[in-house]
Amino acid sequence: MITGNLQQAQQDNMMLTELPNKDLTGIAELEREHIELILDLADRYLAFNRRIRKKSDLLDGLAVINLFLENSTRTRVSFEIAAKRLGADVVNFTAEGSSLGKGESFEDTIRTLNAMQPGAIILRHTEEGAARRAAELADVPVINGGDGCNEHPTQALLDAMTIRRKLGKLDGVTVAICGDIRHSRVAASNTALLSKMGATVKLVGPEILLPEGGDNIFTDMKDGLADADIVMALRLQRERIETDLSISEADYAAQFGLTAQTLAYARPGAYVMHPGPINRGVEIAADVADHPERSLILQQVEHGVAVRMACMDLVTRPRRNM
Ligand code: NCD
Repeated sequence: MITGNLQQAQQDNMMLTELPNKDLTGIAELEREHIELILDLADRYLAFNRRIRKKSDLLDGLAVINLFLENSTRTRVSFEIAAKRLGADVVNFTAEGSSLGKGESFEDTIRTLNAMQPGAIILRHTEEGAARRAAELADVPVINGGDGCNEHPTQALLDAMTIRRKLGKLDGVTVAICGDIRHSRVAASNTALLSKMGATVKLVGPEILLPEGGDNIFTDMKDGLADADIVMALRLQRERIETDLSISEADYAAQFGLTAQTLAYARPGAYVMHPGPINRGVEIAADVADHPERSLILQQVEHGVAVRMACMDLVTRPRRNM
């Protein structure tokens, strides 16, 4: 079996076989070798996923609870498919129809789900730090599927997998991330991961949507995209923007939209990425998003399933090996 062989190979080589913590709540907690462990395992799951039959019994008998307290398409479906391919039973749970609407606190919800002894809890939440809080309350592993503006570790891992598979490395690569950086957990987790792996990250957007202070920050697409091997576009996180943007959607698209013209500021042949959901004609032009060679957007989605299988395999290992 795929993971059994890998585990044996890793043990033989005295390599890492487990993550540092019970949970995966952020890139901040991972070292370079943990990231490599996840990406190597994800490459193997990608090959597994390209087979006609993609069913493993690795998580047979374990329940994975998908607790999504904020909207999601890709992340939720991807975790569900990943868990099912590993043979787990999946329980999907959203705020609507739950006792959260009857006044039960988030903490009590986590305690309740934990008492049912699932194999893992996948959590998406609107508040920063929610995954860490859940991880401390639960004795089963918690994977962060995005917490407010804080972290989205599996997205950064699937993005890294996509870059590594396309360019063969992360070290020395230049990645320009454009758009609403300030409110984006994707930008935060990607910056943390790519910097750890030796890539250069450039952040580009209107001043009001950029972090206050720091290096490699640009308010102009020409400077921001210069030398970029990868250009990652992000949408405006309207649900998190509290102040008036003082820029219309049309002006935003004209100044910061990723179009054929602005993409030409990057290295010749630079690749385009976007975590989705995409807003065509706003942060990314339709022809750029759909470009058959340069857009990696749907490869990111495919890699997301493999990365989440790797993460679920790894967080459940200590208990499966007990
Ligand atoms: C992102 C998220 O939810 O943080 N989407 C995703 O998970 N693929 C990005 C976004 O919502 O803009």
